[in-house]
Amino acid sequence: MYETIRFDQVADLYDHYVNVDFDIDFFLKEAKKAKGKILELTSGTGRVSMPLLNAGIDLTCVDYSGEMLAVLKKKIEKSGLNCQVHNMDITELSLENKYDLILIPFNSLSEITEKRKHKKTLEGVYNHLTETGVFICTLHNPKIRLKTIDGTLRHMGKYQISNDRTLIMQYIFNYSDKSQIVSGLQFYEIYDNNNNLIGKRYLDVNFYLFQKKEFEELIKLVGYQIIDLYGDYSYSRFDEETSPYMIWKLKR
Ligand SMILES: C[S@@+](CC[C@H](N)C(=O)[O-])C[C@H]1O[C@@H](n2cnc3c(N)ncnc32)[C@H](O)[C@@H]1O
Repeated sequence: MYETIRFDQVADLYDHYVNVDFDIDFFLKEAKKAKGKILELTSGTGRVSMPLLNAGIDLTCVDYSGEMLAVLKKKIEKSGLNCQVHNMDITELSLENKYDLILIPFNSLSEITEKRKHKKTLEGVYNHLTETGVFICTLHNPKIRLKTIDGTLRHMGKYQISNDRTLIMQYIFNYSDKSQIVSGLQFYEIYDNNNNLIGKRYLDVNFYLFQKKEFEELIKLVGYQIIDLYGDYSYSRFDEETSPYMIWKLKR
């Protein structure tokens, strides 16, 4: 299996540097509107899953990184809540149940970089929706995302990962117009309390930027109808010039 970003390599650090919650209220609202089972694809360590589970949502999670799922499973175990967790590639989605709401948070469909697999994944999601089911697919707005993708080495952040360990991160990304793929590296440096470097890693990063028209044609081809397109997590209408995201709400 080809993984565009091997999150297994950084699963132990992920929750420290991805400590954001700007989308959680949105997903909680949407999950509460759904009547039955909810499926979260590319759940990772459960940044979105845990708040949903804590709110009593009937949730199933799918991801293909064993290490990311190991972190999620520990959290579920500790909370005493119930959640089915599947280690599965979402391009080959095959589950027994159908779902009233299916989510792909955090722009993660973009981590599939082959066009052939985009269609296959969207068909798989379609086949797992109930008759009245809703699919929420979050994507970057390419116009805005590309503003910080210019081959420059950038500081990403400084994170306290334990009493005596600090993580400092940088990244460098480039974009190819031809392939619509952003590719680059994330650098991880871990320092002790005396600011001595004690560990260094890098992660290869590749992701695909969907154009609005292209995605619209693709979802129509698969058979989806568009319910809404938001530009951010406060339900603003999508504006190609200013919106950070394309948050697609779709139905069969
Ligand atoms: C950026 S992380 C997001 C994790 C979590 N949803 C969050 O918001 O923090 C992307 C996740 O997608 C998973 N992923 C990417 N492509 C996948 C695929 N084809 N099948 C299953 N999981 C995939 C990765 O393993 C990783 O855990």
